[in-house]
Amino acid sequence: MSDITITIDGQVCQGKEGEFILNIARANGIFIPAICYLTRCSPTLACRICLVEADGKRVYSCNAKAKDGMDIVTQNEEILEERRAIMEVYDVNHPLQCGVCDQSGECELQNYTLELGVDSQSFAIPDTKREAVVWSSVLHYDPGLCIVCERCTTVCKDMVGDAAITTGPRGGEKLSKELKETVPKDAYAMWNKLQKSVIVPSNGTGETNCSDCGECIAVCPVGALVSRDFQYTSNAWDLKRIPAVSAHSSDGFQIYYEVKPTSIADRTPKIYRVTNEWNYTSLDGSARFAYDFENRNVQKDTKAFSQALEAFKKAETVRFNATITNEEAMMLQSLKEKLGLKLYNPEVHAYQKFLSVYTEASGNSLYSGDNDTIMKESDFVIAVGTHLRNDAPGSRHAFNNVQKMNKGAGLYFHPVGDTLIPTFGKAVSTFSHKPGLEEAALYLILDLFADKEKLPTDVKNYIENFHSTEKKTIQEKVMVDTVETVIDEATGESKEVTKKVPQMVEKEIEVVRNGLVELLGKRSDTFAVEFEKMIKKKEHFSLMVGEDLYYHEKAENLARLVALAEKVCDFDLVIIPPKSNALGVALICELDAAASGYTVGYNENGDFRLSALGNGDLDMPAFNQQEGTVTTLGKRVVPTNAALAYHGYELNDLLQTLIGSPKETIDWTAKLPVSRGYKAVNFDTLLNTYSNDGADHRGYLLETRGKEKALPEVENPEAYTALEGETVVRLNPGRQFSDFTDKAHQIFEPFALYASPAKAEQLGERVELVFKNRVLKLDVVTDDKIEGEIMCVPDFKSHEDIYGLFGDRRYQTVTIRKG
Ligand code: SF4
Ligand code: SF4
Ligand code: FES
Repeated sequence: MSDITITIDGQVCQGKEGEFILNIARANGIFIPAICYLTRCSPTLACRICLVEADGKRVYSCNAKAKDGMDIVTQNEEILEERRAIMEVYDVNHPLQCGVCDQSGECELQNYTLELGVDSQSFAIPDTKREAVVWSSVLHYDPGLCIVCERCTTVCKDMVGDAAITTGPRGGEKLSKELKETVPKDAYAMWNKLQKSVIVPSNGTGETNCSDCGECIAVCPVGALVSRDFQYTSNAWDLKRIPAVSAHSSDGFQIYYEVKPTSIADRTPKIYRVTNEWNYTSLDGSARFAYDFENRNVQKDTKAFSQALEAFKKAETVRFNATITNEEAMMLQSLKEKLGLKLYNPEVHAYQKFLSVYTEASGNSLYSGDNDTIMKESDFVIAVGTHLRNDAPGSRHAFNNVQKMNKGAGLYFHPVGDTLIPTFGKAVSTFSHKPGLEEAALYLILDLFADKEKLPTDVKNYIENFHSTEKKTIQEKVMVDTVETVIDEATGESKEVTKKVPQMVEKEIEVVRNGLVELLGKRSDTFAVEFEKMIKKKEHFSLMVGEDLYYHEKAENLARLVALAEKVCDFDLVIIPPKSNALGVALICELDAAASGYTVGYNENGDFRLSALGNGDLDMPAFNQQEGTVTTLGKRVVPTNAALAYHGYELNDLLQTLIGSPKETIDWTAKLPVSRGYKAVNFDTLLNTYSNDGADHRGYLLETRGKEKALPEVENPEAYTALEGETVVRLNPGRQFSDFTDKAHQIFEPFALYASPAKAEQLGERVELVFKNRVLKLDVVTDDKIEGEIMCVPDFKSHEDIYGLFGDRRYQTVTIRKG
C-alpha cells in the first residue's frame, strides 16, 4: 500500500492507500466517535455514529477507504445532530441501572451520551421483555442492556474464529411510520436494525460451547456481556490496573491485572479480573481467566531457605519449565556456569535444539515472522505440526484473521482433526494426516510454494518423483448443434432452427497425480483444483510450525526443511515456542538433555522443590507476584509487573548466597545475553504500551541477525513411516498450559483423556493407557471439536511427568484397557 496524505479537520495526516479514514484519524490522534468498529476486524456499520464528510459526501469513516488528497470534516451541525439522535435512540429503553451495572464507569454508552450532550429524549417505543441468560461457564448476557453493536459477534468471528454467537430475532415492535418521518436518517436505520435483534449462540442450543476466551466480554461497550465470576464484585473505578504479560501461552499477551482489597475487613490485595487493550491484542481464555495462581500467605522461612542452599550445594541438576522470567532463566544459567549444574527443561529442550539446527541451516539467528505481521500482510498462511486451537492461541487468531480480513487462504496440516479450522474461511484446506508424515507435509509445501529455480536439484528431483500422470476417462457435458423444425407463430410457416443442446460424451484426459498429497490423505486431482482457486491472486505467504516437529524422530531434518522453505518460498516463518517463556529459556539457558543425580525442581518434580504453587520445600513467587521480562513469540522482550505482594524468598536471594548476585531480580534485566539479541537496558526504562495506531511499544524487539548462507542440505527420506494403531498425542485442552492455569478457579478443564465424540463413545468413561513403561489411568472427556481416532493426553500437571512418559516424541502408540 502506498503512502497517502489526507486532511482531517484541517490537519494534514499521513496514511496508507486503502486504509479506513477512522484508522488514519486514530493514528493521527484525531477523535471520531465509533461504537461498533473494532480495529483488526471487519466493519459492521451497526452504529453509524462515525459518519463524517469526505470531499463533501457523507461516509462512515470506519468503512470508507481514504484516497490521496481527501478532505475530511469530522463534525458540523448536521453530523452532530445525527450523532446526537443516534445516542438518543441508544438510550431509548436502556435500563437506568448504572448504579449496579458492571460496566458503569467504563461504559461507552455513558461516555457518548455525555460527549454528545444528550440531556433529553425525543423518541419512544414500547420495550420488549428480554431475560438475562447464562451462555457458558464464563459468559452472562443481559439482552436488556445490549445495544446490538455486534462487536461481540464480530470479534468472535473475525479474530477468535469460533463464530459462536450471532444476531437473532428480538421480537421487538416495528418502528412506526411516524418515527420514520421524525427520526434522522442514520439514527432511524440503526434503530430499525437494533429493534429487530438480540445476540444468541450460533448453534441454536442456548449455550455457546465455545473457547471461553472472554474476548466478547472485553469488547462489549456496555454491561450486556459480563464475566459470571466478575459480575457484581467491583466498581471499575475501585480497581487498580497493573500492566503485565500473560504467564501461560508463548504469545506473551499484554494484560492488565485489576486489583483491589479482598474485602472491607481483609485489606489483602486480590486480582478481580484481567483486561486487555482489545483493539490491539486479543486474549485466549488462559490469559483472561487464569490469573489467581499466586503463592499466598508466604513469609520468609529461614529454615527452608538454609535447606534450599544445602540442596543446591549437593545438586547435580535443576529441573524447571517455561513458566519463568528471562531474569530467572539468566540466574539459572549463571548457576550452571558457576556451580556446574545441569539445567533440565523438557518443555523447552526439544524446541531449543530445533531452533539451533534451524539457525545453523538458515544463517538467521531467529525465524523471520510474527503473528502481528502475518495478520497485517499475509494472504496465505500454512500451519504444520501445531494443533492451533490448543497449542497456540495467538497463532490461531492470526490464521483465522488472515482468512477474514485479507481475503486469505490457508493450509492446515495436523493429525488431530479439528472441526473449527475449516470454518475459518472458504479457502482453508485441512490435511488430517497420520503422525510421522510431517516431512511429507513440508515437501508438499516446497512443491506448492517454492520458486523451483531456487530449489536444490536433489530436492527438485525428489519432489518430481511424486508426480505422475495417468489416463482417465471422464464424462463431459458438451453443447452440440441440433437442427429442429419449428412453426413460425407469426407466419405459420415451418422453418429449421439450429439449437445448442447439452450432451454427455466420454473423454480421455491426462490426470496429474501428486503422491505427496495422497500420502497425506487427500485425492490429488480434487486438491489440485481446490489449490488452484486458493492460490489465485495471493502474494504474501506465511508458515507456522509447532511442537509436533520438535518432538519428532526426524526433528533435525524437519528444522532444515523449514529453513529451506523459508528461503525458497519467501515465507514469513514462525517457529512457535511451545509454552510461556520457552523462547527466552531457549535463548538464555544451555539446556541439558537429561537430569541426573540429586535434583532441585523449580515448579517441577525434584528431590528438593522450589515452588510458587505453595506445595514445595521452599516457596517462590508466582508470575503475578514478580517483576521481570518475558520473550514473546513475536521476538519482543516485554516487561511484566507484580500485581500482588510477596513476602517470601526469591530465586535471587538464593543466588546472592550461592554465587553472589545483584540486589534485585530486575537488576538482571540489563545482563540478558546481548549475543542472543537482548539489549543491556534497565527494567525501569521498558514501556508497556501500544500507541493509537496499534503499534506495539512494549519493551524492545530482540535483535536478529542473518548471514548469507548456501541453501540448507536436507536428507530426502527414502520412505515414510506413519504411526499406526491406538495413538495418543501430548496435547492440552484449550486454556490449560501448566499447574498455574490449573490452579486458577475459572479454569475447569480436567486432567483427562480428550477424544472425538465417536472415539469417546467407544472408550467409555475411564481407560487405562498402557505405555511401554507406565500405565496411565484417565477419565475420558469428549471434545466435540476433535475428529478422528487420536486421543489427547494433557501435560499440564507437572507431578504426572507426562514429558517423561512421552520422551522426545509427541505421539505414542498405546494399548487401551477399560478403566
Ligand atoms: S452484547 Fe455487547 S458487544 Fe454484543 S452486541 Fe450487545 S452491546 Fe454489543
Ligand atoms: S467467549 Fe470467546 S469464543 Fe466464546 S463467544 Fe465469546 S468471543 Fe466467542
Ligand atoms: S463505528 Fe462506523 S458504523 Fe459504527
